[in-house]
Amino acid sequence: MRSSTFFYIIISYVLLGLVTADEETNSEFENSGFTGSSTHTNNWAVLVSTSRFWFNYRHMANVLSLYRTVKRLGIPDSQIILMLSDDIACNPRNAFPGTVFNNQDQAIDLYGDSIEVDYRGYEVTVENFIRLLTDRWDENQPRSKRLLTDENSNIFIYLTGHGGNEFLKFQDAEEISAYDIANAFEQMYEKKRYNEIFFMIDTCQANTMYEHFYSPNILSVGSSAIEESSYSHHSDMDIGVAVIDRFTYYTLEFLEKIKKNSKLTMDKLFDEYTFENVHSNPGIETKLFNRPMNETLLTDFFGNVQNVHVDEVEDDILYVANHDKNGILHDPVDDATEQNEEAYASTAPTDRSLLFGSADTEERTTLTKITPKQTKIFGGITVLVLIGLWFVGK
Ligand SMILES: *[C@@H]1O[C@H](CO)[C@@H](O)[C@H](O)[C@H]1NC(C)=O
Repeated sequence: MRSSTFFYIIISYVLLGLVTADEETNSEFENSGFTGSSTHTNNWAVLVSTSRFWFNYRHMANVLSLYRTVKRLGIPDSQIILMLSDDIACNPRNAFPGTVFNNQDQAIDLYGDSIEVDYRGYEVTVENFIRLLTDRWDENQPRSKRLLTDENSNIFIYLTGHGGNEFLKFQDAEEISAYDIANAFEQMYEKKRYNEIFFMIDTCQANTMYEHFYSPNILSVGSSAIEESSYSHHSDMDIGVAVIDRFTYYTLEFLEKIKKNSKLTMDKLFDEYTFENVHSNPGIETKLFNRPMNETLLTDFFGNVQNVHVDEVEDDILYVANHDKNGILHDPVDDATEQNEEAYASTAPTDRSLLFGSADTEERTTLTKITPKQTKIFGGITVLVLIGLWFVGK
């Protein structure tokens, strides 16, 4: 009788251990990250081209270029909403049917590598865009066409098309106003649908589109001031139209240099937005955003969360990851800034997604998440085995 009481006490202790292991994991999760870093745990992108017709080739190229970039930097298709007033790849005037290029050398066919368009053609409407942001749909709306964000999501929102003072045209048929977007963002804030938003717009008089935002944690940039056009960067003789806008061109040219583990900050990108480059006055609005630009990583919006995983890893695993075989400490962050980023990829075992591609990320998350629990389970099993031996001994 006394031995079974002892047995129950041990079992209770083991169960209690499992529960507290979970709580520890959660609190570590919330406190993760270094000072000034974003607290988000997932990344989303909403990329919208609103114009139609062949002569607007560049708008579609703008948006597809950013699509390619955020995918390369680790945001999965399931977390990218692509709205494309898609008719250039199949336009009869396209000398290269089924293709879209953003540069003269036609090195990258933007339409080529598996593009998942979520809203195309006449589905790209003001109503659908607002519903997407605020998640007001009937129950038949498929999950793949919803923005399934929460208060831990960082969202990059990119719009391109034809615009004017405080409006952006959708399909030449209707327009969205600066106030519509401002109010949609406020609803998103109230419904805890984001942690931070990075809003980027490339259109004529773009900067008028964000001036009415009033919700917290929104960073905005636009290609041109009031009364200014957004200029196309260059035309392609074979395609016969302008293939990309200047503002987006310089954004992309800069982003081409960064990798998933990049520690480059927003201010470095904004340094590219000169009148000389863009031929208009790009706008940068930080008043609603509570982190300094020199401490806001580009990958906080253009990539998928990387730093959170490291905090969850068991101490001993961290030790192995951060020390070489002689036990010398290597801080992955310092290493990254000291060496070039290529070298970092091969010296930082904690960032395995760099070596094995983004498909590995989820598996890795699962592995590191259950590690503390596994430790408790192993502990529990050991205790049970000892009890067993004790019974046998009796
Ligand atoms: C960012 O800029 C501010 C103001 O210029 C400066 O005080 C701060 O040290 C900078 N932070 C970093 C990480 O460079």
